[in-house]
Amino acid sequence: MDKFVIDGARPLAGEVHCSGSKNSALPILAAALLCDGESVISGVPRLRDVDSLLAILRELGMSAERRADGDILLKVEDLEPVTARYELVSTMRASFCVLGPLVGRRRRARVSLPGGCVIGVRPVDLHIRGLRALGAEVRVENGYVVAEAPRLRGAKIFLSGQFGPTVTGTANILMAAVLADGRTIIENAACEPEVQDLGNFLAAAGARIAGIGTHRLVIDGVKSLRGVTWRVIPDRIEAGTFLLAGAITRGAVTVRDCEPDHLSALLAALTEIGVPTEVGADFIRTGPADGFRPYHLTTLPYPGFPTDLQAQMMALLALADGICAVTERIYPDRFMHVAELNRMGADIRKEGANALIHGVEHLSGAPVMASDLRASAALVNAALAARGRTEIGRVYHIDRGYEKIVEKLLGLGAAIERVDDKKLVGATADSEG
Ligand code: EPZ
Repeated sequence: MDKFVIDGARPLAGEVHCSGSKNSALPILAAALLCDGESVISGVPRLRDVDSLLAILRELGMSAERRADGDILLKVEDLEPVTARYELVSTMRASFCVLGPLVGRRRRARVSLPGGCVIGVRPVDLHIRGLRALGAEVRVENGYVVAEAPRLRGAKIFLSGQFGPTVTGTANILMAAVLADGRTIIENAACEPEVQDLGNFLAAAGARIAGIGTHRLVIDGVKSLRGVTWRVIPDRIEAGTFLLAGAITRGAVTVRDCEPDHLSALLAALTEIGVPTEVGADFIRTGPADGFRPYHLTTLPYPGFPTDLQAQMMALLALADGICAVTERIYPDRFMHVAELNRMGADIRKEGANALIHGVEHLSGAPVMASDLRASAALVNAALAARGRTEIGRVYHIDRGYEKIVEKLLGLGAAIERVDDKKLVGATADSEG
């Protein structure tokens, strides 16, 4: 099993390319289940989660292969299979988004419940509520969601729970609705850029969707969708992670090929904190800060500050000149990184869905353990800034969401090495994403 060894306290400098979005690519790959003919998807990052989903899609009767140029070719060969097995779904929660397309096109689905994961309980009640509203019969049986719908009929659906809209829930219901009879209205739909990308992909395939990018999606069902060629949007969370890596090391990092409009909340926060930024059409640059002004952060649905950058921002705020507060409004338990950051010298106290941070002058290297994808990214950033050496165990978490992270950080001047640590025990494939 691999771990990262990082010698910190070196300002990062230079340019890094932003990969395609994992959370955009996964539902779009699943949406190809709805299309007649071949789809060609570009910009899909080379990640374990993508390979896991391709394995599920193959079991669902698709040909799915990655060409040498990186593009992924997908085509439905067999409409019969409807089961996404526990063994595959449990490795990656996002694979639950095959549910909507299966019900939409094959009128039947048997998809394993993804289960909880370290960032929280993560129920799927809204997905089920939405499918029922469209006329599907849905039951939970032996750990599987079984949905049957001889006909799906458009309906008005309020798709929001106590923590606001749901991203993959909106994706699932949208994908089920595009081939339903009549009009579906999703109220309080998620409007994250990844949901927009899916909506635009479906529209290019022939779906009729109004309101993409808003909280109200109006979908008029069509008879069929065609295969399309599509490039997924840049990964705003990867871009944000590198910008925060530049900021925390007081370096000057330029992230190329990103979409600055998707990172407005982060840019506003960096400005408040005192990190200089420069924004171009497809790049963002951070400059060295003199210090980090205290900042109170609240995660919110898009366009608010993303929960997927909360941990990385907390690592930076650990070095603020004063007291900061972080409130997690999406996943109240997403604070696994707090204890590990404290092992590196941070002073962070968690109380319910809040964390209180007393900024310290410096962090120091320590052996730490990655617990989930974004928490691992926070530990990497903290290690890049910390004095001395940090060893991060269980880095398979980070491999799920960051394409070539070691190579990219080396390109920015980081002292990071991936080493095989056979002595490390206890890893399991935890479901997140
Ligand atoms: C997506 O997860 C992302 N994953 C997550 O990124 C991200 O953290 C999250 O959206 C929020 O932005 C993918 O896109 C693959 P939600 P998702 O349904 O769709 C509650 C990463 O690090 N809820 O929008 O599963 C839920 O518990 C990952 O890349 C219900 O109550 O998240 C949460 O509190 C981690 N019932 C809130 O809604 C439901 O049926 C938002 O979750 C569904 C969700």
